[in-house]
Amino acid sequence: MNLIDVKNLTKRFPMGKGEFTALKNINITIGKGEFVGLIGPSGSGKTTLLNILGSLDVPSDGEAIVLGNSIGALSAKQSAMLRKESLGFIFQSYNLLQVHTVYENVEFPLLLLKLPAAERKMMVMEALAWVGLTDKAKSKPPQLSGGECQRVAIARAMVKRPSLVLADEPTANLDAANSHNILKTMEALNRDLNTTFVFATHDEKVIGYLRRKIFLLDGRIDKDEVVEHS
Ligand SMILES: Nc1ncnc2c1ncn2[C@@H]1O[C@H](COP(=O)(O)OP(=O)(O)O)[C@@H](O)[C@H]1O
Ligand SMILES: [Mg+2]
Repeated sequence: MNLIDVKNLTKRFPMGKGEFTALKNINITIGKGEFVGLIGPSGSGKTTLLNILGSLDVPSDGEAIVLGNSIGALSAKQSAMLRKESLGFIFQSYNLLQVHTVYENVEFPLLLLKLPAAERKMMVMEALAWVGLTDKAKSKPPQLSGGECQRVAIARAMVKRPSLVLADEPTANLDAANSHNILKTMEALNRDLNTTFVFATHDEKVIGYLRRKIFLLDGRIDKDEVVEHS
């Protein structure tokens, strides 16, 4: 089974008295363990597509099937459940809780899953170890660098070991060294845990790590190519 099956997907937004078509008849399948990017200039539809895959938005026409769930057909409760149990999100602005510690930020998705405290602790500490932040567990986001904040966000996305992580421009606020650092971390998690990563990006540094590149242009797929790394 494919992890993601997008069939004849179109997305329209109301605009003034008319409509704007942001995605036009998109067809994609993504399998387990892929490390793939949606690539394209600003406005090409990357975030719109990623949001639909993350069940944060719904198709206007066609279908997006994610882990066996047809996104447009889910109730609000079902889509919340899908996000909570199976999806991890990483955003360009980190979206961390500023007054909470690193530990608490990473623990948050596990509280939603109502796991017992001892199990949560083990999982949080493991996720912090994956991203090399064990010694920052008690720090708060304002005390961290941008690269460290994004590593907290990666730990938060990964802590429940989701099948699918969606990352929207994750390096947009990072310098080159930190960008490579978090990309290597995500690459290792993809390799070791077989977690599927789907990026939305126009950053050449990210693109260099991808094993498949899906190019979007003006809401359409322009090219879909698998990379042969030497
Ligand atoms: N909620 C919305 N309402 C109207 N237009 C939108 C909305 N969201 C996105 N768009 C438009 O859809 C197009 C694609 O946007 P987006 O998916 O954010 O592109 P990207 O992430 O590639 O920069 C843009 O022209 C944008 O203005
Ligand atoms: Mg975007």
